[in-house]
Amino acid sequence: MTTQMPRPTRRTSSLAVTPAVVAHRGASGYLPEHTLAAYRAAIALGADDIELDLVSTRDGVLLARHEQELSRTTDVADHPELAGLRTTKLVNGVETTGWFADDLTLEQVRRLRARERLAELRPGSAAHDGLHPVPTFDEVLTMVGEESVARGRSIGVMVELKDPAWSAAQGLSLVDPLVADLRRHGLDHARSRVTVMTFEPTALQQLAPLLRVPLVQLLGELDRRPADLAALGDPRTFADLASPAGLAEIERYADGIGARHSLVTRDVAGRMVASDLVRDAHREWLGVHVWTLRAEAAYLPAPFRDQADHGDLAGYATLLLDLGVDGLITDHPDVVVAARDAHSVGPRVRTAS
Ligand code: G3P
Ligand code: CA
Repeated sequence: MTTQMPRPTRRTSSLAVTPAVVAHRGASGYLPEHTLAAYRAAIALGADDIELDLVSTRDGVLLARHEQELSRTTDVADHPELAGLRTTKLVNGVETTGWFADDLTLEQVRRLRARERLAELRPGSAAHDGLHPVPTFDEVLTMVGEESVARGRSIGVMVELKDPAWSAAQGLSLVDPLVADLRRHGLDHARSRVTVMTFEPTALQQLAPLLRVPLVQLLGELDRRPADLAALGDPRTFADLASPAGLAEIERYADGIGARHSLVTRDVAGRMVASDLVRDAHREWLGVHVWTLRAEAAYLPAPFRDQADHGDLAGYATLLLDLGVDGLITDHPDVVVAARDAHSVGPRVRTAS
């Protein structure tokens, strides 16, 4: 009789809090996203982790920004000396005009100040426009280390590489500076509180043998394709990745998935219906983070839009916790921390009457 060896797999030993509350781009419901002020506010509000997106400058420095084009979240358009850098590019098939991180040096980025992306929806945050610089990844890691020491708790960082294949095609690897920054901060080890995420499987497969921190495959709209696979002519969609066979494949190079919330539960004629995704992922020992939970009614499923402005985010978070998710990524960490804490305590205070 032959003994079948288990297939090679990638398993990290994380100290992650479960279920975790992850502040999306910092406490971005209250302050301009991806600023040290927004991250610090999130930590003060009790978030277990902060989430940040990374792009590269022309000189290869990782910046905390959600997209390559900078004018939606900074005052770059107000700098006459940078006007000549305005251009049009095709990023993953989408034609975009503006100022791109990969055309600016770090010295030029240092002159910019952050702006609220959703100014009409979040006027309180927009009141902080012009106050905060654009941080580098290195500066975020330094701040998180300081906050962890000051607060006596280890604060996690969930890093998302934005468009790594596109960036590499411009001659700017995101993988190399990421690995270098993590190693310089002593954060590349199996009990690190850093997690690396991206929508692009090829970047995670590249990182798997290089890093010891947990890796998360992000899953977007089911009918769309990861940009790297599309560029390679690979027909797989996110639906294929989210299938049981796709999850088994993800388990070979990653430790978890990060699913758009509509992949986990959705509104069907006023009733919330759960998919099998959490169960299927857990069967492969993959953790499940869900994004993005926002308090404004426009971003919530219809059954939770009970008020005109902010809906019942706590109720929606509780539903997702009932489904067994491992992390909730949110613009409003205070609301979700309260819901998570109430959910965790609930069974222990019940009496058997
Ligand atoms: O953390 C995952 C989530 O942030 C992905 O969506 O567009 O907000 O980066 P996005
Ligand atoms: Ca993100």
